[in-house]
Amino acid sequence: MKISSPIFNRREEIFLFFAKRFAYNRARLWYLTAMRTIILYQSKTGNTQKYAEDIAAALKCEAMPIKKFKKKTLSDYDTIIFGGRIVGGRIDKVEDFLSMYDDMKEKNVIIYSVGMSETSPEGRKTLIQSNLLDLFHVRYYQLRGSFDFEKLGFVEKMLLNNSFRMAARSGQNGLDSTTANWIKEHPVQFYDQAGVDKIISIVRKLQTVVDVEVA
Ligand SMILES: Cc1cc2nc3c(=O)[nH]c(=O)nc-3n(C[C@H](O)[C@H](O)[C@H](O)COP(=O)(O)O)c2cc1C
Repeated sequence: MKISSPIFNRREEIFLFFAKRFAYNRARLWYLTAMRTIILYQSKTGNTQKYAEDIAAALKCEAMPIKKFKKKTLSDYDTIIFGGRIVGGRIDKVEDFLSMYDDMKEKNVIIYSVGMSETSPEGRKTLIQSNLLDLFHVRYYQLRGSFDFEKLGFVEKMLLNNSFRMAARSGQNGLDSTTANWIKEHPVQFYDQAGVDKIISIVRKLQTVVDVEVA
């Protein structure tokens, strides 16, 4: 039964106006987060990749290894996230990522690293300095990954022993030799859900700001 009264019709119009606006805004927000964010990663044993894929699933965007990324497609994105595993205090392939910085200056750039060490403000500061992140306008997050010494190949084992020695000498990431030996004998498995949620919520907020600015 269709009610036809001027008051009802007016209410119906107002309701439809807001319903359309709501649907439009939701679609727009979805479009902005879905179409304009990309996650690039460098992973060897899968932890950094899993974080990238989980963040991508929540943001409904694509995640791919950095080596597959075509620099000329940068202009398609507003937000670019790079995740790299930590090797010997360095974020693997972060230099490759930051070599594109001139083309990302106007964009939201987020970097996360994945290492086995417990995350801490001091460790963060060291990683920022040793990876020259403070030279760039980027947001940086530390996530903790998994590690099993026995699963590594010969070269990685050698590299790791070396980086343990370096870290123990400099106190890097709060890693002393006793902790290093303990880590070699005890596989660790961490998943930083709070860190993942933080990155997701930051990207959503950034995209909302873009939405408000262009509206
Ligand atoms: C050779 C080597 C060096 C590493 N150096 C560090 C380090 O300096 N700091 C740290 O926190 N983790 C270090 N790790 C641990 C890895 O960063 C950690 O296992 C991470 O989860 C690996 O990421 P992926 O699974 O994405 O490859 C090292 C691992 C290897 C194999």
